[in-house]
Formats: sequence, structure tokens, C-alpha cells
Amino acid sequence: MHAHDEVVQRAANSMLAFARARVAADLEPGGLPIGSPQSAAWLDEQAGQTVTEVGLGPEETLRIFAEVLEPACLSVDHHGFLSFVPQAPAELAILGDMVTAACSIYAGSWLEGGGAVWAENQALDWIRRLAGMPEGAGGVFVQGGTNGNLSALVAARESARHRLGVQHPASGRWVVICGEHAHASVSDMARITDCEVVAVPGDRLTGAGVREVLGVVGADAVAAVVATSGSTNLGRIDRLDEVADVCEEAGVWFHVDGAYGAAALASTSRSDRFTGIERADSLVVDPHKWLFTPFDCCALLYREPAKGRAAHTQKGSYLDILNDAGDAGEWNPSDYGVQLSRRARGLPLWFALATHGTAAFAAAIDHGIWLAEAAARLVVEHPELTLLEEPELSVVAFTREGWEQEDYDAWSKQLLEDEIAFVVPSKHAGEPILRLCFLNPRTTLAHVTQILATLDGDAPVRKRVE
Ligand SMILES: Cc1ncc(COP(=O)(O)O)c(C=O)c1O
Repeated sequence: MHAHDEVVQRAANSMLAFARARVAADLEPGGLPIGSPQSAAWLDEQAGQTVTEVGLGPEETLRIFAEVLEPACLSVDHHGFLSFVPQAPAELAILGDMVTAACSIYAGSWLEGGGAVWAENQALDWIRRLAGMPEGAGGVFVQGGTNGNLSALVAARESARHRLGVQHPASGRWVVICGEHAHASVSDMARITDCEVVAVPGDRLTGAGVREVLGVVGADAVAAVVATSGSTNLGRIDRLDEVADVCEEAGVWFHVDGAYGAAALASTSRSDRFTGIERADSLVVDPHKWLFTPFDCCALLYREPAKGRAAHTQKGSYLDILNDAGDAGEWNPSDYGVQLSRRARGLPLWFALATHGTAAFAAAIDHGIWLAEAAARLVVEHPELTLLEEPELSVVAFTREGWEQEDYDAWSKQLLEDEIAFVVPSKHAGEPILRLCFLNPRTTLAHVTQILATLDGDAPVRKRVE
């Protein structure tokens, strides 16, 4: 055998064995370490110079990864990872990702990746049907909610320009209206597109709130109204139906950021909370959050995909062959987002959906919602904890009596060091809070009980770090 082929064979055996063990590691609670962050200096010392002229060979390279690098990454899929918005990819989605990578598919165009794009579109269509958007709505899987929001805002601004026949509004800058709880990416992407953001104060974005802003800035200056269906911090859902009404009256683009929460459209108990989402001009849902798909994957849907194409199709003589086919009706995913070359990042979701069926997804999402309800009850019963509000989706937020920021920080650090869980404090109304985001089907009520016990008055974990 040629030396190169022999190296590849050895690597294939050891890397596939490693991947196989890692995929199953959290099946038994306690089997997967949460991991611990390390400094670059520590990694320099432990791993040394890894990029060398002759290479380290497959065994040493994998050893460094397995023994040094991977443990220095937190296991976002650990059952005790309850910070930010965690991730819990289905084993089938991870395996599907491996298979997809092995096939080197270019999924920017139908010509090159039609088979994969067809499957991605079936997965997208499942989300479309859950949301109740009309037949014909469609889009693309982009990198994440940030890119999804950016791509939608670019399409919205282009649509406003086209509708009003101007490049810029009379006031000079396009406006994006959102609620104050909108994810940071909304204002960040608005800034990137040189739009001004008006964040409406209040728990949830309402029709009245949007109407008031429209009265001040004028509908002809607005590129988009962004409603959030599942805020990152608390899981709150804006008044989608009211906002849709006002957008319709004013002729303004209605975008829904459901990156985290809109997965609950597939649940059996929360799907009725999203009325109005079916009227969105664009919608994002992140399968890498609550649809059990590996990073990075955001489903972006347009009510009228032609508006996505008008904004995003790249032009160049070398692309004419693809664009001509697109004009003739072929679905080129790169036409619908800020990207050209793309991997078939929706295929891992498709592998899991096609294998397990949608009912399994519904049950897994229901688990997170059930766990949040049960955890909220435990918080209410705990003498030293105060629940911030009843969870609308799967985030439980609360405060600990008598604690200040440094107490929360110290507790969080200790909890990770003790390998119990990864829970970082957040803030609400300027005050520190604790926040548990449930979506991992392997997290149990027993884990939650264990975590809450560390908040007892005399729990040993409650100590300040110097
Ligand atoms: C509501 C919401 N929108 C957008 C984002 C950004 O998504 P991503 O991190 O995939 O870019 C997040 C991330 O948590 C989110 O919760």
C-alpha cells in the first residue's frame, strides 16, 4: 500500500473509533466530562508546535486532540450544560454530518448538489409546515441565527427599496424595529447593514408598540420589524399576531427571530403560542439549538423566496450557468443568504428527521418544556430561591436570596469545577439572575435537584473565590 494510503487507513480506524465513543459518551450520566477552559499558554505547553514540516502522524495528532484539545473545550451537549442556549445533537445527526462531510458535496447550487439540496428542502418544508407558512415559502440553511437575521434583513431592506423606488429613505437611514429583548445579533446585523435600530421597551413586542414607532419614524423608513419568538434570556414570545397585523397595515416586512424558541412549534404543548408566525415574511429557526442538530445550522425561510433571490443572487460570468438555471426554476440555496459556497448544513438534520420521524422530535422538545415546568416548581419550593416568572418555553430564571454578582460567579465556577453542571449567571433589569436553559433530552429532574441543592444555605459549594 502507498504510504499516504496507509496513514489514511490508520487514521480512519482510530478517528472513527474515537468519534463513535464520543457520540455515545453522554448516554450514561457521568460518562462525559463537561470539560474545563484552559489558557493559550497552557495549550502551548501541553500540545507544543503541532504544525510541522513532516507531520505528527495520525496517532500523535489524535492523541493531542483527544487528551489535550477536546478536554479544553466544554461539552455543549453534556446533560449538565444549561447555559446560554445549549446543544444536544441527535446521534443520527452527528453521524449524518460525518457522512455529509465524507461526500464533499457543494450545496450552493442544484447543479452540483441537487440530491442534498432536495433533502435539505424536505427538512425546511417540515419547518414551513410547522410554522403554517404558505406552500411555496422556502429558503436555505445558513450558518446560524446571526447569519439568518442578517440575510433576512438584507432581503427586507432590498424589498423596501424596490417597493418604494428609493435607495435610502428621506430620513437617510433605514430603520429596524424590534423589542428590547431581541437577540444582540438583531441590532448588530442592523448596524452592519447601516440600519438604525429602534428597540421598543417592554416585556414583549406588541402591536401597539410597533404602531407607536411607525407613527414617529414613518412606515416608509422601515426596512423590517423583527419579532422574537423565544427570547434568549427568558424564552418570551412577542405578540406575533398583533405585530403581523400592524406590519400588514403598514406594508412593512415582518421578520420573526425564532432561532431558539420556534422549535417549540413542533411540541405538543406550546405550538399554540406562535399564532401570527405563519404571516412572517421571513423566519429563522436554529436546528443547532432545539432541533438536535450539530453546529452550525439555521433554517431561514422566506414567504416569497423570490425576494430572497433578488437580494442575494451573486452575479458573475462564471456563475451565469447557475443563475440561468435558477431563472428557469432550479433551487440554488446560495441565492437565499449571505454566502456562495456552502456545505449541505441541513443534511444532518435531515438524517435525524428521516431516521427517527417527526414524533421523536416532538417528544424530545416536550421533555425540555416539561423539565422547565418541573424545575420552576422546585425553585418555587426552595426557601432561598425566587422564580422570576413562569417559563413560557424552556428557560427557568431565578434569583438566590442575599446573593450578589460575586456570589453567583463563585457558585457557577465551583459548579463547573465540581463537574456538576455549567450554569453561568445572566442579568435581568440590571440585576444578576441564574438561568437554566433546558433542551437536552438527557437532562433529568434528578440533575436539576442536584444543581438546586448546591444553592441551599449551608451547601459547601457556596463560597467566595478570592
Ligand atoms: C433568539 C436568538 N436569535 C439569534 C441568535 C444567534 O444565533 P447564532 O448564535 O446561531 O448566530 C440566538 C443565539 O442564542 C438567539 O437566541
